[in-house]
Amino acid sequence: MKKPFDLHADYQPESFEFNKKFKKSVKEAIERYPSGRQQSAVMPLLDLAQRQIAEEGAASNPIYGGWIPKAAMDHIAGLLDMPPVKVYEVVSFYSMYNTAPVGKYLVQFCSTTPCWLNGSNDIITATKDHLGVGVGETTPDGRFTLMEVECLGACVNAPMVQINDDYYEDLTPDNMREVLNSLSEDLKPTIGSQTGRKASMPACGPTCLSDQAKKAKVV
Ligand code: FES
Repeated sequence: MKKPFDLHADYQPESFEFNKKFKKSVKEAIERYPSGRQQSAVMPLLDLAQRQIAEEGAASNPIYGGWIPKAAMDHIAGLLDMPPVKVYEVVSFYSMYNTAPVGKYLVQFCSTTPCWLNGSNDIITATKDHLGVGVGETTPDGRFTLMEVECLGACVNAPMVQINDDYYEDLTPDNMREVLNSLSEDLKPTIGSQTGRKASMPACGPTCLSDQAKKAKVV
């Protein structure tokens, strides 16, 4: 669930501009589209704005993560010659864009049916207890924000979470706490399966189906 979209909140900065590093990527994104179709670059530009703010936040004290202020949406609307409200519509539709400040690490729990059947509630509870904050909240040190989202397309390795750009899969309360502890120290935990499973191979190994068939005496 996204935080409320409040264009007039106190935390909204008055201005936004892409810095030198990001200006280059903005130009490249706009040039990908034919003349007269530059508005198609709205999604990559919003993503770049969020990433620039994440970089600024990682170097700040207290730290914070990437989000998109109204000033950035208005700036992008100007760059692409489109009405600001059309940019607001895009930002408010997709859960990948954060419309309010978040922590350096945005933990997105998938709790759709396959993850739920495999214990996503236990992962959410373990995380809340470990960090001392609830879903929709940020830890006082600005490090973690918790958010619940719909299916992230990794159901075969459920339960899973997305933290910033990475997926952590085959979670248990114990290995979830290990991931959080590593991130607390800005270490890079192993991404993907936390049980060593390769990609989405069967949890019981590459010969799982033939083993089952033998056991059932059907081969
Ligand atoms: S249900 Fe969780 S990734 Fe699809």
